[in-house]
Amino acid sequence: MGTNHQNSTAGKLLAHRPVMLREMLEVLGPVGGLRIIDGTFGAGGYSRALLNRNARVTAIDRDPGVQRSAEELAQEFGSSFRFVRGRFGEMDKLAEAAGAAGPDAIVLDIGVSSMQLDDATRGFSFMREGPLDMRMGGAGKTAADIVNTYDQRALGEILFAFGEERKSTRIAGAVVEARKESPIRTTLELADIIEETIGRKPGGNHPATKTFQALRIAVNAEFDELVEGLFAAERLLSEGGKLVVVTFHSLEDRIVKRFFAGAKKSGQQSRHLPPAEVEAVRWAPVAKAAKPSVAEIEANPRARSATLRWAARTGEEARTVSFAGLGVPLSSLRGAA
Ligand SMILES: C[S@@+](CC[C@H](N)C(=O)[O-])C[C@H]1O[C@@H](n2cnc3c(N)ncnc32)[C@H](O)[C@@H]1O
Repeated sequence: MGTNHQNSTAGKLLAHRPVMLREMLEVLGPVGGLRIIDGTFGAGGYSRALLNRNARVTAIDRDPGVQRSAEELAQEFGSSFRFVRGRFGEMDKLAEAAGAAGPDAIVLDIGVSSMQLDDATRGFSFMREGPLDMRMGGAGKTAADIVNTYDQRALGEILFAFGEERKSTRIAGAVVEARKESPIRTTLELADIIEETIGRKPGGNHPATKTFQALRIAVNAEFDELVEGLFAAERLLSEGGKLVVVTFHSLEDRIVKRFFAGAKKSGQQSRHLPPAEVEAVRWAPVAKAAKPSVAEIEANPRARSATLRWAARTGEEARTVSFAGLGVPLSSLRGAA
């Protein structure tokens, strides 16, 4: 969740609140004249702040709904800004096609935006009645397709792996029972089935929170995208180039942390065994994770689960993409170790 906007009574967007913007700018330092890729444009909060500091920004987003904000920035900042629609998982190809290869820094603010969450017709929210869609890019399988066609076991695995939902088996069973009557088409239909199945604790999170997170991650292949995007950034940046990543839950953060850390240097384990391979260091220094300030969380509660990590590229050659060791849930289904 990188931005927060509220609708006024007239339905006009009032405020966009990029998350951990101050920390992101501090990490980058002076950006005047630098070429920066903003891989998750959203409402353009990061891009605008960078452009205001005289950076040259190439922004990427898979959601066609951001086009208007992108056009506004293009009008205001002319050739210092360009927008490319696509997935950051292939940002090196997109950057090359847009003449933006060889950036000085890359910023990623992962996940769903407040515009997506607050728009009932997108189907991301269990609080608003809408079609069970959840596609950020508008193409491919919808959440309804998954809920109505996956078998109980596959559904349960998704809820457990991507949502850390401990009641995944019961919820998957209830979904499969319910859809025998008629397909589950809307957000509130699904939210009601979940609430009827596992109940609701007073004062606790809505019981559908984890299921909705899991479905969104599955629909948008978010972990695959994150891994592909991190490796694309590794290929794009040269020595000293910084990658800053803001994530919104522990499963994503674990992937970023392990990606930056690379393989551990284990050295020689025993004199009877060959020396363990010591992997070259691609990222250094690897900074400690940063969290939003109390003041930011008070002003924008959606920032509360954010974590920022960053590191700079060394001169070592980029790795080939591998999901191994990154802790990506369900990556075994893709054949990764
Ligand atoms: C949290 S918002 C970014 C907000 C932005 N930093 C700002 O300040 O306005 C995340 C955005 O990333 C986009 N996004 C998510 N996954 C993506 C991917 N794999 N490729 C491109 N865009 C993606 C979403 O569509 C959404 O607009």
